Amino acid sequence: MTPTITLVRGDITEQSADAIVNAANSSLLGGGGVDGAIHRRGGPAILEDCRKLRAAQYGNGLPTGQAVATTAGELDARWVIHTVGPVYSQQEDRSAQLASCYRESLRVADELGARTIAFPAVSAGIYGWPMDDAARIAVETVRATRTSVEEVKFVLFDQRAYEAFAAQVG
Ligand code: AR6
Repeated sequence: MTPTITLVRGDITEQSADAIVNAANSSLLGGGGVDGAIHRRGGPAILEDCRKLRAAQYGNGLPTGQAVATTAGELDARWVIHTVGPVYSQQEDRSAQLASCYRESLRVADELGARTIAFPAVSAGIYGWPMDDAARIAVETVRATRTSVEEVKFVLFDQRAYEAFAAQVG
């Protein structure tokens, strides 16, 4: 089944969805952008789970392109799915890693039984990915992934990002 794609302009921490995706870094220990906002609004339970995951499974950090779930703490969601996008490079094509973030997040959502999921524009902030291309990869990958998730909500922080995704969704 292909999920319905909806676009929302706003703050991902204010969305209600079964799972909210975090554009994390491999340390899983927090950062700026979406990551900072999720940990701030979700409270310390998320970081506590992240620390446990680091200790139990990801001693060297979560590899780029993979995804893992924790509690959503005080957020209005059941889970946060942390994924690590690639840093944009002009020398090397890392599109496959970015596509993997969406595919792996949907796979984790399926394992959890999530029916709705909210994604930010992974890699398109601090990691420098050009927004139009980030939007293309995000939408194409979701459309090409078999999943039981019924609704994928892309939550775009500003008008420019919203328009880039709207151009892809058509
Ligand atoms: N809700 C929705 N979108 C947001 C929000 C928000 N609250 N805040 C920012 N964005 P970024 P990355 C947009 O930088 O590029 C962190 O330090 C933002 O405008 O959050 O994958 C991590 O720890 C941009 O369009 O993620 C990593 O070190 C998009 O979300 C690194 O940043 C992604 O921007 C990851 O960088």
